[in-house]
Amino acid sequence: MINYTEKIPNNVDLGRDRVLQRALEHWQPAYLSWWYDMGPNESHNFEVYLRTAISVEPDGWAQFDYVKMPEYRWGIFLQPPDEKRQVNFGIHKGQPAWQDVPGEYRSILRRIVVTQGDTEPASVEQQKMLGLSCPSLYDLRNIFQVNVEEGRHLWAMVYLLHRYFGRDGREEAESLLARRSGDTDNPRILGAFNEPTPDWLAFYMFTFFTDRDGKFQLCALAESGFDPLARTCRFMLTEEAHHMFVGESGVSRIIQRTCEVMKENKIDAPADVRALGVIDLQTIQRYLNFHYSVTLDLYGSDVSSNAANYYTSGLKGRFRETKLEDDHVLRDAMYPVSEVVGDKINTKQVPALTSLNERLRDDYIEEIQAGVDRWQRVIDEAGIPFRLTLPHKGFHREIGNFTGHFISPTGEILSEEQWKAHEFDWLPSPKDYSYVQSLMSGRVAELGKFANWIAPPVKGVNGQPLDFQYVRFN
Ligand SMILES: [Fe+2]
Ligand SMILES: [Fe+2]
Repeated sequence: MINYTEKIPNNVDLGRDRVLQRALEHWQPAYLSWWYDMGPNESHNFEVYLRTAISVEPDGWAQFDYVKMPEYRWGIFLQPPDEKRQVNFGIHKGQPAWQDVPGEYRSILRRIVVTQGDTEPASVEQQKMLGLSCPSLYDLRNIFQVNVEEGRHLWAMVYLLHRYFGRDGREEAESLLARRSGDTDNPRILGAFNEPTPDWLAFYMFTFFTDRDGKFQLCALAESGFDPLARTCRFMLTEEAHHMFVGESGVSRIIQRTCEVMKENKIDAPADVRALGVIDLQTIQRYLNFHYSVTLDLYGSDVSSNAANYYTSGLKGRFRETKLEDDHVLRDAMYPVSEVVGDKINTKQVPALTSLNERLRDDYIEEIQAGVDRWQRVIDEAGIPFRLTLPHKGFHREIGNFTGHFISPTGEILSEEQWKAHEFDWLPSPKDYSYVQSLMSGRVAELGKFANWIAPPVKGVNGQPLDFQYVRFN
């Protein structure tokens, strides 16, 4: 169980390590001042119907109550240890899992923890303004839930930095509060986390696409031979599932509402759809193209010696590593990656070890495709002849083998001119953004009411009705 009587709730017996406890208590006010600055705008007095973990078991989410977000019980929760756990891949395979940082991997591990940690506050910063234009109290509560949990994910990574990386770790923990999403001088580490999230369609796309990248990275780190990292990530994954639910159901409800309006009024031209105050499916497709492509970049270069090192050292595994049936060393295995040769996209076999980023990206794409298929079903059930598609993997990429090429959603290699001529058929234009934002100019805060551009969800939170007071504004 989690100890909530301590200043920093935890299940790691923090009270027994005075030095660590003091260091974290010193970081805590800095974190809070970051939250007051960069957390959801003007929300500090709201009472929000939030869930708080009461134990780290998969069913440990029973606690729902009104909480002012600055008083949320952020803390340090790791999945309980498995004494018999081993390093399950790489050259140390079969050794007992490490309970401390192996000296030779110290700087790589620190880099991994910092890179993961940096994404957590970044997304809170990106979503800071959205509460002012929420489509309902239900949705407002959901974004706040996501935000406090991203805050807790930052705590999770900061605990590892403080506990295992000494002075360097403490300095990194401070830097995590100093960088800012989109800042020109001191930006967040990864590209997608410096993009704005200007409206609720972007928010749902982000939680569907980019939080799912989070899931895959956490799954790979949950395999780590460094046991505290693995156990931390396991618990973070239980929180991530909710973020992806918010994204998938949010987009789905927007699609549903658009389809209802199209059907009722027997219209299909985007201008007619917009005239009725809902988001045309073409714009939804362009948002999808954008969020998918910038998220694919987060997996890194198709061929990467870093990825090979992380694996060989036993620090970062593959998706579902222990369920895979092979040698878990990848000595001779090969894997296909794409490359642009002249005006063609070819596939070539490369050592599986160096293409682990690409493999994780492919695992991710498979799951994304299944989600897009579920969105498609909403359109099909409405009898509307429109297909939502994932663009080609090389579309709009800035990292890896496709960098510098202009590739259409269907995978043709274009000249820069051809690309420019179609750019805004494929990606949201400034006009698209201003249309979507024009729908979201204020907060819908009446009990049980939903903005015109989104359908209500199937059910409320924790068995509560849709007209429940999910947020009290005070
Ligand atoms: Fe997270
Ligand atoms: Fe998340």
